[in-house]
Amino acid sequence: MGSETIYRATTTAPVNIAVVKYWGKRDTKLNLPTNSSLSVTLSQADLRALTTASCSASYTGGDSLLLNGEDAEVTGARTQACFRELRARRAALEAADPSLPKLSAMPLRLVSENNFPTAAGLASSAAGFAALARAIADLYELPASPAELSLIARQGSGSACRSLFGGYVAWRMGDKADGSDSMADQVADASHWPEMRALILVVSAAKKGVSSTSGMQQTVETSGLFKERIASVVPRNMAIMEKAIAERDFAAFAEVTMRDSNSFHATCADTYPPIFYMNDVSRAAIRAVEQVNAKAGRTVAAYTFDAGPNAVIYYLEKDTAAVVGSFYHILGAVDGWKASTVQSLATTSAVIEEG
Ligand code: DP6
Repeated sequence: MGSETIYRATTTAPVNIAVVKYWGKRDTKLNLPTNSSLSVTLSQADLRALTTASCSASYTGGDSLLLNGEDAEVTGARTQACFRELRARRAALEAADPSLPKLSAMPLRLVSENNFPTAAGLASSAAGFAALARAIADLYELPASPAELSLIARQGSGSACRSLFGGYVAWRMGDKADGSDSMADQVADASHWPEMRALILVVSAAKKGVSSTSGMQQTVETSGLFKERIASVVPRNMAIMEKAIAERDFAAFAEVTMRDSNSFHATCADTYPPIFYMNDVSRAAIRAVEQVNAKAGRTVAAYTFDAGPNAVIYYLEKDTAAVVGSFYHILGAVDGWKASTVQSLATTSAVIEEG
């Protein structure tokens, strides 16, 4: 094989939307969270990152990333941490089997596309870093399980560790200083509760004002309410949520989802200076959910908001008409909307090419 050989692997990773939010780091270097979190992985047919990783001795100019058609930074500490971890694992394989090509020493080229707005509070970094970790692991032919890849993706972006699994996924905060137990696991496959649906209201596709990364550390440093959230609110929400999923209890799932979103945004408001991610349209969406539930006489919909104004509404398939129908009247105020199912299994396709 000559030095012109190009090795390549392509993969996709889904978006996940947390129902118990990650907000706060206890170690900013290793990206270790102050609390566990839990999310639902959405269908890749609707929201996903598609990433191709390639490497070649013929590549010049070092590592590079093309994100949605534009050159993006790869020198950041988080991307570097992912590259370093993946290269170290490949180098170990190469040391054990000298006949393997020395991919770990070659420059990496990544090309990634999202089919949804980047950095608008739609978990783009989650899908992005999950796809990055898996694409490079496939390229390097690493025998890495989703749990192991979640350890690597976590260092790129915390929420990314949850996008390595389909269905209902927990990120266990762990307690080791080196972060080796801070990874994701699957609470239940999508087939356990396949009726779950998510309606995404794109209130604004603009890039968010305060990034999650800096926003959460301002909260950690200045909010008194946050201490209460990590000490008792989140542990309780995690326990109730896991039980609600096990029992397919939508009313309990919905209440925790809404309360946890409210608790997270309350700690943002309690940050000094305060951080506001939701806007008037977001608040109108909350009122609309309350009205839909009141009209139905039971809980049929649950809202949640990440670090941006876009609403995600969880509901069950049988209540589609009641929920989606009721949102038509506020849809005039939003940029777009999308209904999504839950992703059953994160899928991957890898091709190693020599040419
Ligand atoms: C509000 O995972 O984007 O979406 O680890 O700094 O990259 P970094 O943060 P990020 O934070 C996501 C915060 C959230 C809640 C969640 O997804 O759990």
